[in-house]
Amino acid sequence: MSQSLATVAYLGAAILFILSLGGLSNPETSRRGNLFGMIGMALAVLATVAGPHVSASGIGWIVAALVIGGGVGLYAAKVVKMTQMPELVALMHSLVGLAACLVGFASYVDTSVQFQGSEKLIHEVEIYVGILIGAITFSGSLIAFGKLNGRIGGKPVLLPARHWLNLVALLVVIWFGRQFILAPGTAEGMTPLIVMTVISLLFGVHMVMAIGGADMPVVVSMLNSYSGWAAAATGFMLNNDLLIVTGALVGSSGAILSYIMCNAMNRNFISVIAGGFGSGGGAPAKKGEASEPQGVVVPVSAAETAELLREAKSVIIVPGYGMAVAQAQHTVCEITKTLREKSVDVRFAIHPVAGRMPGHMNVLLAEAKVPYDIVMEMDEINGDFPEADVAMIIGANDIVNPSAAEDPTSPIAGMPVLEVWKAKNSIVMKRSMSSGYAGVGNPLFYKDNNRMLFGDAKKMLEEVLGALNP
Ligand code: TAP
Repeated sequence: MSQSLATVAYLGAAILFILSLGGLSNPETSRRGNLFGMIGMALAVLATVAGPHVSASGIGWIVAALVIGGGVGLYAAKVVKMTQMPELVALMHSLVGLAACLVGFASYVDTSVQFQGSEKLIHEVEIYVGILIGAITFSGSLIAFGKLNGRIGGKPVLLPARHWLNLVALLVVIWFGRQFILAPGTAEGMTPLIVMTVISLLFGVHMVMAIGGADMPVVVSMLNSYSGWAAAATGFMLNNDLLIVTGALVGSSGAILSYIMCNAMNRNFISVIAGGFGSGGGAPAKKGEASEPQGVVVPVSAAETAELLREAKSVIIVPGYGMAVAQAQHTVCEITKTLREKSVDVRFAIHPVAGRMPGHMNVLLAEAKVPYDIVMEMDEINGDFPEADVAMIIGANDIVNPSAAEDPTSPIAGMPVLEVWKAKNSIVMKRSMSSGYAGVGNPLFYKDNNRMLFGDAKKMLEEVLGALNP
């Protein structure tokens, strides 16, 4: 394939990636968005493999890598549960970071192309910055992976004088950058490059370790953004326009998503990165039993729940992580249908960080074919709880925790939550009194108008459905 044909194919792939992002912004067009992305990626790989930069002797290596990588990807897609997606995504981000580091070192030691003057300077800056971003993305994503799957505790690890440590690390990296650029040869430049890589790896670990469990959604999307910039830096090093464009698309969309999530959680992006949320002024969060709030918990049966729902005029359903774990979305949809047939107004309230990834609940409800027009975002529906007869909370906890709104000392103080306690009745469906992801006790469980339906969400909802349709 000639260079010009490869460029046209790259342009086509870039347009498909933009259309893909556009499609993914709405549940109704997301399948089409995915398809555009897949076609774009296939086109990009084909144009690269058949392009002028790959020699016949290299094809074997590329095909072998494609088979191994594709095989691992297919296997992962089959076995990974929906609730484990954020971990998988974090692991994949770490690979993008690792790739940027390896490409950086490879292009530094590659003597087949000799750069001179300002070209040499630009090339070395690309290498230095590319490895810097890649190393932070690699180690930060590995720690995020560990935190998301519970191998590393969710509590922020805050070193004394950590901001000063970060500042010193930055200054050292800048100083070694100067040494790297001024180095007369590859051998002399290698030491500053390795020192900077080690500092960046440590910085990535430090940055994510300092971030509390409740801020992990922002961290995942921030690392997504970093992985995009790492890919763009790789594109500069390899002189590959498509990689630059794709990296910039991922980098900027990840940054926008981080910004949206920070707004949704009423958090300042800088203070998320600076770390410590979840440990702040509040009592230390304890995983397990909700220990702080006190009062009487009133359990309710599935039959009583069905009775409350049948008598209601307006019901708001709040799904959370537990609905995803129990895979209860299809039963939720059946209950919704039954209630709507009985002229009950049923709507869904979706918190921006419900579940374990952005749009988690929307995907599950769309899969169960819940009509889009009754699925509301938090801002659209939060004011309607006082008029609702029943707020039914299915496997959600942090996103309906009143202490975020009412207790300034709570570790999640300030995070906007769905105000379910303002409904005439609320029913929380979960297996025990355990706390949620942020490890904070929930006073909602003890409110006078709240009832607890204990059990696995799917099992309990099936019983409720049975009682609604005797
Ligand atoms: P959580 O606060 O994590 O609460 C989920 C609840 O579901 C748990 O308290 C658990 O209680 C219950 N549960 C688990 N399995 C269940 C089952 N089979 N049946 C019934 N209930 C079950 O979830 P949330 O309210 O959706 O809030 C999300 C949290 O995750 C936030 O803190 C958010 O910051 C964080 N987070 C979000 C994301 C994104 S991007 N969405 C990413 C990372 C972290 P029991 O054990 O008592 O059943």
